[in-house]
Parts: sequence; structure tokens; C-alpha cells
Amino acid sequence: MSNPTIVTIDGPAGVGKSTMAKRLAEALGIAYLDTGAMFRSTAWRLGEGAWNWDESRLVEELGWIRFTLSGSGAQTRLALNGYEVGDEIRTEEVGMWASNVATLPPVRAFLKEAQIRLGEQYSLVAEGRDMGTVVFPGAKNKFFLDASVEVRAKRRHDQLKEMGKPANLAKLQESIAQRDHQDRNRAVAPLRPAEDAVIVDTSDLSREQVFQALLDGVKG
Ligand code: DC
Repeated sequence: MSNPTIVTIDGPAGVGKSTMAKRLAEALGIAYLDTGAMFRSTAWRLGEGAWNWDESRLVEELGWIRFTLSGSGAQTRLALNGYEVGDEIRTEEVGMWASNVATLPPVRAFLKEAQIRLGEQYSLVAEGRDMGTVVFPGAKNKFFLDASVEVRAKRRHDQLKEMGKPANLAKLQESIAQRDHQDRNRAVAPLRPAEDAVIVDTSDLSREQVFQALLDGVKG
């Protein structure tokens, strides 16, 4: 295969990155990489409180984790040690665990390396917080999706309900605001748009309009 193509989508929690990455990957016929799922499943695998471990224990436990990708478009599958992690990582609680371990340099270094390796093997739509800034600075197209915290909490609320999971709008809004703060202010790879990213404010756009903006951006 010639050099893989990388498209990056970054943005805060609940802005719709996963949905858009999946759709865009489907349209382009390539795989998508949900790096939030990598942080979530790492946090879930390590367990609650891993963010308080000493560094040597953390590095040793991370050494047991391997991520693999298969398929493409909407059929892309991410597995941790061969296990396809499912809805168990999609709670706001695991999201907060993920945000906690994401502040730790050994976790970031480990996942950055894993993401770069996957990007060498596959053309990707890679979504997360630091795709355009840190992991794939040379990506062909970079997008940054944004929306108010109220709009994002509402979207995540609707998404959880669709999955049949309990959801409380006020609590979600509080948790997302707290996660935003932690993700934007951490010392290593904080959430911010790359200088060459196209910023799309999705607050007043439908899913279709956001998708079209991304597709036009990739083509243009
Ligand atoms: O996108 P998400 O809500 O599934 O991400 C969960 C957490 O993982 C997020 O709050 C911060 C962390 N994360 C990160 O630090 N860097 C990434 N590239 C992706 C996620």
C-alpha cells in the first residue's frame, strides 16, 4: 500500500466526533480510529484508581495492552488484546476515568505510539483530542469540531438513552464541563485545534450539515 492517508477530527467531549469519523471513513472507504475508545478501554482495563499508581506499576501494566484494528468504514473494529470492547466503556464514569489516565505522561506516550503504528498500517480518519496537534501533525486534512457544553450534554444524553442507559442531563452537563476543563488544561497534549485545522462550530448545525462540511473539506 502507498503511504496511508490520515484525516484528523479533534474536539471536546460529546461534540459528535465518533459519529462523524465513522461516516467520513465509510464515505472515503478507509478505517476510523476512535482514540477516545483507546483511552476509555485502557482506563477500563487498568481499573478505577490507576491514576494513583506509581509510574513503574503503570508502565508494567500498560506493557500488557495491545490494540489492533480490522475492517474499514462503519465496519472498523478496534480490539484490546483481541477483545472488542463494547458499550461497557461508554458510560460517563469510564469517560472520567479515561480523562484521568489521559493526564499521565506514560499513558499518553504508550497510546501515541500505538496510534502512530496504526496510522502507518492503515489510512485513517482519526478522532480524539490531540490527533492534529501531536499524534498526526502531518495529516492531510485536519478538523476541529466544537459546540457549547449545553448542546453537547443534550446530544450525549440522547445517545445514552438510545443505548438504553440511564442519563441525567444536569449531571452530564456538569461531568462534561469538568472533563473539558481537565482535557484543555492538562500539561501534556491538551485539547486545542491545530493551527492548520478547519474549525467547525456544530452548535446550530444538523448532523447532515456537519458531515457535508467535513466531506467538502476533504474534497476541497
Ligand atoms: O472522546 P471520548 O469522550 O471518548 O474520550 C474520553 C477521554 O479520553 C477524554 O475525556 C480525554 C481522553 N482522550 C485524550 O486525552 N486524547 C485523545 N486523543 C482521546 C481521548
